[in-house]
Formats: sequence, structure tokens, C-alpha cells
Amino acid sequence: MGIDRVRWGIVATGNISTQFTHDLGLLPDDAVVTAVASRSQDSAQKFAAEFGIPHAYDDYRRLIDSGEVDVIYIGTPHPQHYAVARTALQAGVAVLCEKPVTLTAQQARDLIAVAAENNTLFAEAMWMRTNPVIQALFEDLGSGSIGEPQQVVADFAFKLQKQSHKPSLPVRLLDPALGGGSLMDGGIYPATFAYMALGRPAEVRAVGSLNEDGVDLNVAMAWRYESGAVAALTCGLRSQNPWVASISGPDGNLQLPHRFHHPEYYVRTTASGAERIAVPTHGRGYHYEAAEVMRALRQGLLEVPALPHAGTLEILELLDETRSQIGVRYPGDDDDLSG
Ligand SMILES: NC(=O)c1ccc[n+]([C@@H]2O[C@H](COP(=O)([O-])OP(=O)(O)OC[C@H]3O[C@@H](n4cnc5c(N)ncnc54)[C@H](OP(=O)(O)O)[C@@H]3O)[C@@H](O)[C@H]2O)c1
Repeated sequence: MGIDRVRWGIVATGNISTQFTHDLGLLPDDAVVTAVASRSQDSAQKFAAEFGIPHAYDDYRRLIDSGEVDVIYIGTPHPQHYAVARTALQAGVAVLCEKPVTLTAQQARDLIAVAAENNTLFAEAMWMRTNPVIQALFEDLGSGSIGEPQQVVADFAFKLQKQSHKPSLPVRLLDPALGGGSLMDGGIYPATFAYMALGRPAEVRAVGSLNEDGVDLNVAMAWRYESGAVAALTCGLRSQNPWVASISGPDGNLQLPHRFHHPEYYVRTTASGAERIAVPTHGRGYHYEAAEVMRALRQGLLEVPALPHAGTLEILELLDETRSQIGVRYPGDDDDLSG
């Protein structure tokens, strides 16, 4: 692509867009935010003023068509990801889209195909994968320090407070129309962690407790592998969990502390004792994924090596299967995108 400065456009002005845009400011001057779009001009202008962004649009499509951006970051609720990402990819604008990148594996498969057809980069913003501590932990695992992994345990549950950060908005996590539920919002992290450690399981079993609107509030997943390895994964919105993760093998284990998906250190325990391994990080950690996207754009890649399409797709297939077992349905489950 031969670009020196990468021009970012931010789609939506909510919680995560704010955090991501803040972290973009931690990158060198070669990352510039040139535009923001919101459903409301007022919100777009406030966001633009907060971050010094020159162009503010009251429509996502106008940002995509503006010619002012190389890549968009999509921070809408999950059900809106698919249409915005598809429009951008068809226009040849690269996309970094929040997790889960779509509600269904079928939609993700379609986006990956549209990205290829349009020779345009597409990535899921699974920021955990680009966190330096997580990367160090998986290098450690790959070096054989604990032997072949046999068990993964990971947990992502917190008590949902009723008030959203913007009281005028519905509480997204409890709204079926906004893709509510703990699995797609939080459970995707333990699922990704286990997938990174062990790959795709041979068997998935899941149980879940749903509220009267069909939104999952508590989910437990058990994954089994042909190798004999297993994973036990939980997520929920009803309890303050330890929010930790571990990988264990015959020679020891690697443990991540509270908020395991963006840690500051991990602990390796082997026969020689427990060692705390810290890796310097800064910011909240969203700039690491942004830097990977920029590197891939400069190399003319359609896929960000640290945010692989296969992982995005296979994890959504596992989440489809989990939702079907626990009875969570989303709009789009019955759509046929094959034609
Ligand atoms: N990577 C992470 O750490 C992380 C953390 C939290 C959330 N997320 C993901 O990021 C996405 C957004 O989460 P969030 O917590 O930022 O949500 P949020 O605070 O509710 O913001 C979502 C924004 O999307 C836009 N939007 C478009 N259509 C909407 C609709 N029908 N209803 C409500 N808002 C709509 C709104 O912006 P405008 O009004 O400006 O258009 C809204 O402010 C989700 O997919 C979530 O899974 C990721």
C-alpha cells in the first residue's frame, strides 16, 4: 500500500471507541485519526473536539465514502458490525472491527470473502492476542516449559451494574436486540484463550442460564480434545469472579491474574518454583492491536498475522454451537448468506 501515515476513522462514539482512540494517541505520529462518525452530529462533534479530529460525520457511510481514511475502527454493538464492515470492505477501506466481529460464523465467513474479493484488510479487534504479556506467555508455552498442555481453565464473569455509562442508552449487555449476553461479550475471551493454547476442540458441551428475554447471564463450557486435553471455561454477568486463566501441563502451569485478558504479568510454576514474569506494557493496551494493523497495511497484507481470520472464524463457529446448546438466538441465525 506504500503509506507512511495511516489515517484512522472511528465509527461510533461509545465506551470502547473512546478507549481505543485514546490509546491510538500513544502511537507515534504515523497514526492519525482523521475522521469520526456517529449516528448523531452532536456526538461526532463532541468526540472530534475531545481528540482533535478534523472531520466529524453524522452517518457511518459518509465517513467510509469520505476519502479521508485508510482504515476504520468499528466500535458499535455487535449486531451493527456486519453491515458497517461489509460496506467499508466493498469500498476498499480496511477494517478493524470490535469483538465479536459478527453475531454468527456465517457472517464472519462472508466478511472474510468480501475482504479478499476487494483486496482489503480485515481484522477482528481481539486485543488480548496482541497484549505483550499474553504473547510472552504463549512463547513460554511453545518453548515446552510446562510440557504439552493438558488443561485450560479460564473465567470472565463480573456482576453487571444496571446503569450504563450513558444512562440514555439501553444496557447493551441485557438487550437481545444489541447482541446482549455474557457469552459473546465476555465468553469470547476464555474461548479465544483456550483456542490459542489447545486449538479447536473435538467436542463442545455447554450449559447456560438465560433471563426471560433469552439473554445468557451465566455460561459454563467444557471442551474436549482428541489428545485427551480439556478446557473448562465460564462467563457471566451475575457474580464477581476471580477473572483468571491458566494453562497446565505435566511439568507445571502458567497463570494469568485478575482481568487475565490484559495482564501486566503471568506466573510460571514448575518443579523449580513459582516465578512472576512481568512484561512492560503501557496504556490500556488497544494500541498494540492498532500497531499490528498498521504494520500489516504497510506490508500490503489482507490479514493481520496476530489477528488471524481462521481464529476469528473458528471461535465464532464454537460460539454458534455453544449458543445453540444453551438456546440463545440472534437475528441473522437463520439468514442464508451463501448465495
Ligand atoms: N475490546 C474491548 O475491550 C471491548 C470492551 C467493551 C466493548 N467491546 C465491544 O465493543 C462494542 C461496543 O461496546 P461499547 O461498550 O463501546 O458499547 P456502547 O458504549 O454502548 O457504544 C456503542 C456505540 O455504538 C453506536 N451504536 C450504533 N448503533 C447502536 C444502537 N442500535 N444502539 C446503541 N448504540 C449504537 C453508538 O455510537 P453513536 O451514537 O456514536 O453512533 C454507541 O455509542 C461491542 O461489540 C463490544 O463487544 C470491546
